Amino acid sequence: MEARLQAPSVRGEGERRPPPFTAVIFGVTGDLTRRKLVPALYHLEREGLLPDRFGVVGVARQELGDEGVRALVEEAAGRAGGTAAERTRLAAFARRFRYLRGDFDDPDTYRRLAAALGGEEDAGGARARLFYLATPPRFYPRILRGLGEADLSREESGAFSRVVVEKPFGRDLATARELNSVAEGVFRESQVFRIDHYLGKETVQNILVFRFANGIFEPVWNRQYIDHVQITVAESLGVEGRASYYDETGALRDMVQNHMLQLVTLIAMEPAVAFDADAVRDEKVKVLRAIRPMTPEAVRRNVVRAQYGPGRVGGEPVPGYRQEPGVSPTSTAETFVALRLFIDNWRWAGVPFYLRTGKRLARRATEIAVQFRRAPHLMFSRTATPELEPNVITMRIQPDEGIVLRLGAKVPGAQVKIRSVDMDFLYETAFASESPEAYERLLLDALVGDSTLFTRRDEVEEAWALVTSILEAWAGEAPARLTEYEAGGWGPPQADALMERDGRRWRQP
Ligand code: BG6
Repeated sequence: MEARLQAPSVRGEGERRPPPFTAVIFGVTGDLTRRKLVPALYHLEREGLLPDRFGVVGVARQELGDEGVRALVEEAAGRAGGTAAERTRLAAFARRFRYLRGDFDDPDTYRRLAAALGGEEDAGGARARLFYLATPPRFYPRILRGLGEADLSREESGAFSRVVVEKPFGRDLATARELNSVAEGVFRESQVFRIDHYLGKETVQNILVFRFANGIFEPVWNRQYIDHVQITVAESLGVEGRASYYDETGALRDMVQNHMLQLVTLIAMEPAVAFDADAVRDEKVKVLRAIRPMTPEAVRRNVVRAQYGPGRVGGEPVPGYRQEPGVSPTSTAETFVALRLFIDNWRWAGVPFYLRTGKRLARRATEIAVQFRRAPHLMFSRTATPELEPNVITMRIQPDEGIVLRLGAKVPGAQVKIRSVDMDFLYETAFASESPEAYERLLLDALVGDSTLFTRRDEVEEAWALVTSILEAWAGEAPARLTEYEAGGWGPPQADALMERDGRRWRQP
């Protein structure tokens, strides 16, 4: 039984079946539960990846009852289909859910939860437990302590007790450290799963496979051959009813601290000795530690922030950020950030990493472009190569998931004329099967105890250290109004200038 608590060393499907468990979702009535957790659990069950014996206890403050939570579950998972058999299956899935009304601040909630979980014990032993913190983040410390006080973090008879903590994990370095200390007071690090859903995306996992399962890329993956790296996470959506969260958060905390810095670590890390949780995360942490810290002066030079104004997205007029419902008309939350980083280590010395992310940009596109240096000497005449661009490997994370290699090729004809062409690998055409949703993958990983795709304590703190230095520099500036960019474009001209200053430019995804 003990072996089940270990991360599997080989990822055969057989080994990835969790033992009987009860999941406890704090914040079961929230948006994340409906949009991601319930559909992911339902899909995992339909795929036969969950054990026969599992149940879910949903905790929230509303008066809802078992029937209420089941109706919510059916609605959230119901998009899957409408045949009679499907409805029966869905109803059976929903019956696995029970509801516990409780205030997260009230110690009694955890006592009642412990009693409810005690009633679920399997004959002959304890049931494994997965606690999922899907509440607003201010409740995280209280819930963690409550679990500790009710002795719910103890693992007995080989049955695990684990906690999944949603982002944002803290608001800055100090609060992230505090939250880590609270978690550490209750759980061991191996029981804590800090989620970053980007790591659950197939294309993100493929970065490591691409780099380390192929012999041809690693020899050129360094400062000798790479000119720069640029990472774009563009969204066409605005704040979508999350104004109260977003307005306190901004793009730097919402996207850069977690998703974008995770992409940087995967592109830049050294090969790990094995694809297991500690080996991989040891290497990722080293990258974060090597990122050059930013002084306020460096922040002024290397970081651009802006907010979207009115414009048109997909042909439709959209309001500016400060006109969005729920956003203060004087808000200074940034909805766009671009930055230039350096990783001061042997492999990357002198290679800039340019990052940009924003809401209400021209289109949804996440991609990483690794641009190589030009050939050292071109034996072809200048007239033969007017359109020749440097080699670029682009990893398209979403949409149109794939990898593209840009190279120069001879235009057919009697003369030597060279043009850039693309060698394109598309997931959709190469693999018939659909990729699982990020949350499915991550939930299953948490249930089998594999934390490779979750962020470790030191990792989250290193990422916050960098982001906090930027936040502090901004706090010292306190502008009345941020630069505005037009919704539906690619951000403010200052973001272009950040690259143009270095003689480079953003690729158009
Ligand atoms: C979330 C952010 O973590 O990631 C959102 O809070 C953002 O603001 C989302 O929209 C983007 O995720 P995805 O998977 O759509 O790229």
